[in-house]
Amino acid sequence: QREYHIVVLGSGGVGKSCLTAQFVQNVWIESYDPTIEDSYRKLMEVDVSTSFVCTARDTLTSVLQQGRQVVLEILDTAGTEQFTAMRELYMKSGQGFLLVFSITSMSSLHELAELRDQIIRIKDDPRVPLVLVGNKSDLEEDRAVSRARAFAVSQGWGSPYYETSARRRANVDEVFKDLCRQIIRR
Ligand code: GTP
Ligand code: MG
Repeated sequence: QREYHIVVLGSGGVGKSCLTAQFVQNVWIESYDPTIEDSYRKLMEVDVSTSFVCTARDTLTSVLQQGRQVVLEILDTAGTEQFTAMRELYMKSGQGFLLVFSITSMSSLHELAELRDQIIRIKDDPRVPLVLVGNKSDLEEDRAVSRARAFAVSQGWGSPYYETSARRRANVDEVFKDLCRQIIRR
């Protein structure tokens, strides 16, 4: 069974732990308890569609749908600056990265650029599997980052953008699935 190492990164309070708790345990955590570092394991089914073309007299295109079970090892990191010394270590061992900001905070989006640069430097790979996540989508009335703005950032990175709500469990499974597919397709 395949095992993939996923790292959840972003500023303090954007909802990294809440997203992880919803994904792994299906629970919503209202209280805020800053993380030092936590790791979780979860079994997940991923659909991988592999298409291949056979050229004979006729051209046959067949699409094979494969379900694959993988184990995700998820590292929920600290948003606070005092723990940055640990970053280099988990960036080295991570295979896929969720870069999380809150749609209610523009600075939380800006802070991700530096993290992404660091990941690319450490992995020495500009195409490292990565998903940009705008969390707290339930707080539409407090939105400070437009969908278009965040999408433009993700396009510049060549990565997908999702808006999630850990509170409502919206798009939570989708971000982890997308990241898994990116890792598998490498
Ligand atoms: P650090 O561990 O300090 O880096 O923070 P974190 O990114 O893990 O944030 P955490 O998941 O602990 O959430 C911080 C606060 O935001 C908590 O009070 C959560 O209840 C709240 N929160 C997280 N996700 C959402 C969301 O989708 N919607 C709303 N409305 N609140 C959220
Ligand atoms: Mg946390």
